[in-house]
Amino acid sequence: MFADKDISKFNNIETPFYYYDTDLLQKTLHTCADAAAPYQFHIHYALKANFNPVLLNQVKEIGFGADCVSAGEVRRAVEVGFDNKKIVFAGVGKSDKEINEALDLDIFCFNVESIQELEVLNELAVKKGKTAQVAIRINPNVDAHTHHNITTGLDENKFGINSWDLPECADTLKASPNLKFIGIHFHIGSQITNLDVYKNLCVRVNEFAAWFEDKGFKLQVLNVGGGLGIDYYNPDHQIPDFGSYFKIFNEFLTIKPGQEVHFELGRALVGQSASLITRVLYIKNGKKKNFVVLDAGMTELMRPALYQAYHKIENLSRISNLRSQTPIKYDIVGPICESTDCFGKEVEQPESFRGDIFAIRSAGAYGEVMASKYNLRDAIRSVYSYEI
Ligand code: LLP
Repeated sequence: MFADKDISKFNNIETPFYYYDTDLLQKTLHTCADAAAPYQFHIHYALKANFNPVLLNQVKEIGFGADCVSAGEVRRAVEVGFDNKKIVFAGVGKSDKEINEALDLDIFCFNVESIQELEVLNELAVKKGKTAQVAIRINPNVDAHTHHNITTGLDENKFGINSWDLPECADTLKASPNLKFIGIHFHIGSQITNLDVYKNLCVRVNEFAAWFEDKGFKLQVLNVGGGLGIDYYNPDHQIPDFGSYFKIFNEFLTIKPGQEVHFELGRALVGQSASLITRVLYIKNGKKKNFVVLDAGMTELMRPALYQAYHKIENLSRISNLRSQTPIKYDIVGPICESTDCFGKEVEQPESFRGDIFAIRSAGAYGEVMASKYNLRDAIRSVYSYEI
């Protein structure tokens, strides 16, 4: 919820920009850390959700590790000061250059996604005289019941090693002197709001762990990935229910003495802490449609265009008119030369005018980091609550 003082300050700032509520971020991080502490669960923050250095600094201060999917993210994590020994590196297509860089940085673990990658990693580690710690990312064929574009744990997805390839994978691990196999890794998808899905994941993790133990492997790490969703419809119910989430893993995972459970959370930690603040350039009232044309578009926040994702849209300049006026239905669009450049269709808003300030809420995850230069747009700026 925006306070009147924020709104009047926004009027004096050039739009568009991401507005970060660093107090809310702090509260969210603490709530997560406190919920994980009784179980001694290990949290790695998924940098892909947002690698803004101010945010990363707050995440690092809380003591979380980093989950990276490129050498660039590994480098960023190290630069910000994350402990190398708390960095995991996932990704279905790590290049030799990226692997070498991560080997040089002595990261905690490579989450390996294919048998060929195991072979390449071993070869590169041999050349450097190093031992790489690895977790095998397994595709558990568990349906995350989320948007099909952000589901990752089904047989048809490109991620992870399929169960039928595990015997060959075990042989490769045994034949790779410079790999230290420390555990198994899963990530079934993102924006998961039905927590029962995680019970199914736990059942599968237990089965795979038993399979490896039967073959004589000792598993130090069970990494269950991330995916916990946020409430895009009620951005003011801001902090996800980390307590219920962790409780499921504590109840349903078979955790052996000395075994560590690792998580890779992105969206749930940062998603509600930012809004895209933008100004109305034009109002176009037509016969069939009324349009609000904003100065931000899909180049600043791509999720609606890419996944038809819902983000709550608020006209901050007219909030007090919301209850007193009959709302008007607008298509809320951006300035980009693409018809998909639309944040929402037939969205009810109070009558809106050129110059009004709009907030597109819940934009802290996969917002700023997915911005593009399409149409040679200016880079999107960030403003932090402690600055204004
Ligand atoms: N671990 C792995 C291996 C992942 O692939 C991901 C996200 C995460 C952790 C963090 O997931 P989270 O807790 O944030 O759900 N751009 C899409 C989301 C893509 C997610 C990719 N992987 C969106 O805007 O919804």
